[in-house]
Amino acid sequence: MTVTTTRPEPAVADRGTDPEGPAGRRVLTGDRPTGPLHLGHYFGTLRNRVRLQRQGAELFVVVADYQVITDRDIADRLAEHSENLVIDYLATGLDPESATIFAHSAVPALNQLLLPFLSLVSVAELGRNPTVKDEIAHSRQSAVSGLMFTYPVHQAADILFSKADLVPVGQDQLPHLEVARTVARRFNERYGAGIFPCPRALLSEAPLLPGTDGGKMSKSRGNAIALAADEDETARLVRGARTDAERRISYDPAGRPGVAGLLQLAALCQDRTPGQLAEEIGDGGAAALKRTVTEAVNEHLRPIRARRAELAADRGHIRQVLRTGAERANAVADATLAEVRAAMGAVGSA
Ligand code: TRP
Repeated sequence: MTVTTTRPEPAVADRGTDPEGPAGRRVLTGDRPTGPLHLGHYFGTLRNRVRLQRQGAELFVVVADYQVITDRDIADRLAEHSENLVIDYLATGLDPESATIFAHSAVPALNQLLLPFLSLVSVAELGRNPTVKDEIAHSRQSAVSGLMFTYPVHQAADILFSKADLVPVGQDQLPHLEVARTVARRFNERYGAGIFPCPRALLSEAPLLPGTDGGKMSKSRGNAIALAADEDETARLVRGARTDAERRISYDPAGRPGVAGLLQLAALCQDRTPGQLAEEIGDGGAAALKRTVTEAVNEHLRPIRARRAELAADRGHIRQVLRTGAERANAVADATLAEVRAAMGAVGSA
């Protein structure tokens, strides 16, 4: 007797065992344009994107401007933040010739996918999303908007319009990726059309980067070092970092989170281990540790910041990158929407 078992495609791609690797894969990822990207973004995701691009993946990067208004009433300085995001992308090495960098609000067909996609998920499912629940708990709004519950389905449209295979994200985005996978599967089942491949997450390899207070680096906690910060500002942020009274520097993440965070930061910048650095600083104490960190960060970011300054001086070029990206994304989204409408039997479709 033969027993056939169907193994479901895993939701998270395994870097080590993925036989095909990123070459030839379509990769989609993105960010909300809410403010400057910081070292947490850089070591957590930006570097991985550039690596994927160098390995031959085709990148789509979405500036998720409509997603800014999920947890606040107004998208403050949206154009400026969107352009600065693109500047951060290009300064850290994304190549706009091969990567498609676009704002999702500039791609009407992507947004139109939201309608049929919303019909494929239940209200109960939307309410169970743990990332949405967490965002509601931390929201600065007095009332929770409908978009807060539905934006993960819009994010599914971000991902599925491009038929991306891989989505590099942090842990908090896994529930959203699950929504995209559910929508893809249900659409294919309901309309008998294999239009959408089931995307997989590519989890960031870097450990969560602690901020200057030992907690997770995050703009809202005021503990983040922005890529765009200058060297003096970096020195000031590091000087204000929380350490402890013990003179001798040692690497002890559980017992000494502040010191450990700083050691980790310098180690990432210098491609060494935090333990090695701790040894070296030894009895130099917090002052020597902070000098080391400041120098390591500033040195590592110097070429990126120089490139950033050049890019920032030519806003016309940045806007052109977004226009070209939108054109390419629109062509792909129009084709996907045409397939969707045809599968649904929509009147007027080809
Ligand atoms: N929700 C993501 C964040 O807050 C941003 C995002 C929007 C995204 N659309 C996406 C990420 C599509 C990956 C794929 O960071």
